[in-house]
Amino acid sequence: MFKKIMSVTAGLVLAGGLAACGSDSGSGGSGTSDDITMGFAQVGAESGWRTANTKSIQASAKEAGIDLKFSDAQQKQENQIKAIRSYIQQKVDVIAFSPVVETGWDTVLQEAKRAKIPVVLTDRAVDSEDTSLYATFLGSDFVVEGEKAGQWLVDNADDSDVNKDGTIQVVELQGTTGAAPAIDRKEGFEDKTSANSDIKIVASQTGDFTRDGGKKVMESFLKSQKDIDVVYAHNDDMGLGAIEAIEAAGKKPGVDVKIITVDAVKDGMTALAEGKINFIVECNPLLGPQLMDLAKKVVAGEEVPARVVTEETTFDQETAKQVLADRQY
Ligand code: AHR
Repeated sequence: MFKKIMSVTAGLVLAGGLAACGSDSGSGGSGTSDDITMGFAQVGAESGWRTANTKSIQASAKEAGIDLKFSDAQQKQENQIKAIRSYIQQKVDVIAFSPVVETGWDTVLQEAKRAKIPVVLTDRAVDSEDTSLYATFLGSDFVVEGEKAGQWLVDNADDSDVNKDGTIQVVELQGTTGAAPAIDRKEGFEDKTSANSDIKIVASQTGDFTRDGGKKVMESFLKSQKDIDVVYAHNDDMGLGAIEAIEAAGKKPGVDVKIITVDAVKDGMTALAEGKINFIVECNPLLGPQLMDLAKKVVAGEEVPARVVTEETTFDQETAKQVLADRQY
C-alpha cells in the first residue's frame, strides 16, 4: 500500500525544547499576520503529550498573530470531520489537524481542496494516495521512535530478563487502534527485536494512549501472563498506568518488570529518574512555532517542504535525572 506521505525532504528541523508553553485559550491574535484564521482540529486530551501540544499550538498562534479556532475531537474521527467541515463553512484561511486515525480522510480533504483552503497535517499523518490533499506534514517519525525502543531492548536485555525457557517476554500497550503512532511504533519495535529469537511479544492490546487504559490492560496482562519481563508502552501515560498495576500486583516496576515508553513528558521523566521506567524515547509535542510558520507560508502561496521531521532524542535513568528540573512539559 502507498503509505502516507511520500516523504522527501526533512527541510526544517525542530530544535529540542523550542517554545515556552502558555496556558491561555489560544483564541484571538494581535492581527500581525494579515488576519490569518486557522481552524485546528485536535485529537483530544488523552495524554500529557497532548496537553503540552495543545498549549504549544495555542500560545504560538497568539504569538504569531494568527486567529485560532480550536476544537477537541475527544479521540473520535467523526468529531474531527465535523470540525473540519465547520472550518470550511467558516472560510478559514488554513486548516491544521492531527488525524486521530490514519484512514478515512479523503472525502473531507477533497471538500477543503474544492473550497481552496490549504491543509497542514501536524503530529500524525493520513494514509491517502492523493498527496495533493495537504500542503505539508509536520511531525515525528514514529517508526524511528519504535526502532529506538526495540534497539534499546536488544542492547540492554540482561540475565534478569530471561525466563527458564530462555525467552524474554514482552507485553505491548498499543496506542489508539488505527492511529499512525500506534501502527508505526509497533512496526519499528518489531523490526528491531524480531531478529532476536529470545524476545517474544506475548500479548499486545490497545490502551488508547490513556493512563487508565494502560492500567486496565496491564491488570489483565498480569492475570493472563505468568512471566512478564518487559512492558513496551506506546506512550508515557500508558506506561504510568502499567506502573500502578504492577505495584498493585506486588512487583517492582523498572526492576521486576522493565518498562520502555515513548514521549518523555514530565511525569514519565520523573518515573524514569525514580527507576520505575527504564528507557524513554522522546516525542516532542512543541510543534506550535513551526506549525504557525508553515501556515503563514502556505497561506502566502510560498513553497514548503512536503515533510518536516521533528528532531528527538532518548533518555535513560541517568540522563533523566540530569534534565528533569528543566523539562518544560
Ligand atoms: O501522536 C502522538 C501521540 O499521541 C503521543 O505519543 C501520545 O502521548 C499522544 O496521545
